[in-house]
Amino acid sequence: METILIVDDEKNYPPVISAILTDEGYETLTANSGPEALGIIEVSDLDLLVTDMKMPGMDGVELMSRARALDPDLPVIVMTAYGTVEMGLEAMDRGAHSYIWKPFQNQQLILFVKQALALRRVVRENRLLRDELGDRYSFGNIVGKSPAMSEVFDTIQKVAPTDATVLITGESGTGKELVAKSIHFNSPRRDRAFVAVSAAALAESLLESELFGHEKGAFTGAASKKKGRFELADGGTLFLDEIGEITPAVQVKLLRVLQEKVFERVGGEKAISVDIRLIAATNQDLRELMARGRFREDLFYRLNVLPLQLPPLRGRREDIRLLAEHFIKKFSGLRRAGPPVAGVTPGVERLFEDYAWPGNVRELENVMERAIILCSGQNIGVADLPREFRDSVKNTLHVEGIPAAAKLSDALTEVEKAMIIRALRMSGNVQAHAADLLGIAKSGLSQKIKKYGLDKGSRD
Ligand SMILES: Nc1ncnc2c1ncn2[C@@H]1O[C@H](COP(=O)(O)OP(=O)(O)OP(=O)(O)O)[C@@H](O)[C@H]1O
Ligand SMILES: [Mg+2]
Repeated sequence: METILIVDDEKNYPPVISAILTDEGYETLTANSGPEALGIIEVSDLDLLVTDMKMPGMDGVELMSRARALDPDLPVIVMTAYGTVEMGLEAMDRGAHSYIWKPFQNQQLILFVKQALALRRVVRENRLLRDELGDRYSFGNIVGKSPAMSEVFDTIQKVAPTDATVLITGESGTGKELVAKSIHFNSPRRDRAFVAVSAAALAESLLESELFGHEKGAFTGAASKKKGRFELADGGTLFLDEIGEITPAVQVKLLRVLQEKVFERVGGEKAISVDIRLIAATNQDLRELMARGRFREDLFYRLNVLPLQLPPLRGRREDIRLLAEHFIKKFSGLRRAGPPVAGVTPGVERLFEDYAWPGNVRELENVMERAIILCSGQNIGVADLPREFRDSVKNTLHVEGIPAAAKLSDALTEVEKAMIIRALRMSGNVQAHAADLLGIAKSGLSQKIKKYGLDKGSRD
């Protein structure tokens, strides 16, 4: 049941309003002065405040602002008997939900109360949703215990509370967007918007109007005025993804916004200023782009205030297992049949550790998602991994490890032996699985095992 506090210094008013609202199924409390009302607000969980405007000592506007200090989302309806429109409007300006003139019709009051309470519910739900989102992007959901990731956590923790520009770099799929969201949701701007825009997804002309907005008629097709992402992110965080793709013309505009903190909509003249925190990301080497004259140096230094480099997955193998477990939890709900997945077999673990993961965490996530759906048993085995993945594992070979002077035929023999040993190891000595992994017939594999003397006893 929702609780409404009614405040009026005219002693007969609160009981009358209380009776009307009680009939509507609300719980009511009453007070005859601002201080008395504040005492009640402090100790009760209110949903709405209905207060008279003119009261001796503390007036309605002051009561409202003091009440808001205790509960920022508390909606307020202001009543005024001596009312000029201005007085009610002033109350609205100060944040009242609505104002009502005395004497009023019961139905009018009830309508205003219903509206204010509906808004209260929406605000509360939004807050809950945001808290949930915040949870999703808390550090807890960025998985990793490698030294490289510990450093990343450290940096996030240090930069999140500030307004400084962050430049996140890292290969595709290393978690750049995840980290950007985590910075936002751990910053004082967490209750405001996180607006993402990818430079790669848009043509130059579109990117400009996407970022800065446009006025009606600015270009063919601009049928109406539109706000850009910079404006939409006001008060919050703007995430500029794939910053390396931004063309020279847009680079200049961006630099100006960063330097002067103002911009104009495309086709507009009015200078617009916004309060945003900027996070940029790229999987390109901006220094190399700079050397090639494709990225402005001054822009780079504006963006690179706090650099945050995400390590590739192959450089932090101790995280692979943790991530695999994390994705098992994340995707367990996708399974339609079979027992819940408990883990991966030692064979898969070794395969994962050997693999180069060019697609980084995103690739691992995709492999796990599909394996969880495909796998029929409790543990994901090599045979449950998606075919393309097994194919790409087969194609990963570190030629750098072979001496340059080695004869090709000798090197091939060594490689063949090493791959057979690895495949046997990964498949727990099940030759059928190892042959499958190597893409050869089981009979071919057993011949080679004999030829190289690789049968069980001769291997460790
Ligand atoms: N450390 C991590 N812990 C948990 N999940 C992660 C981690 N890193 C990345 N992911 C997940 O991997 C996927 C890819 O991450 P994200 O989109 O943030 O990468 P990216 O670096 O922005 O990639 P791209 O350069 O391709 O845009 C997402 O689903 C993300 O949640
Ligand atoms: Mg990304």
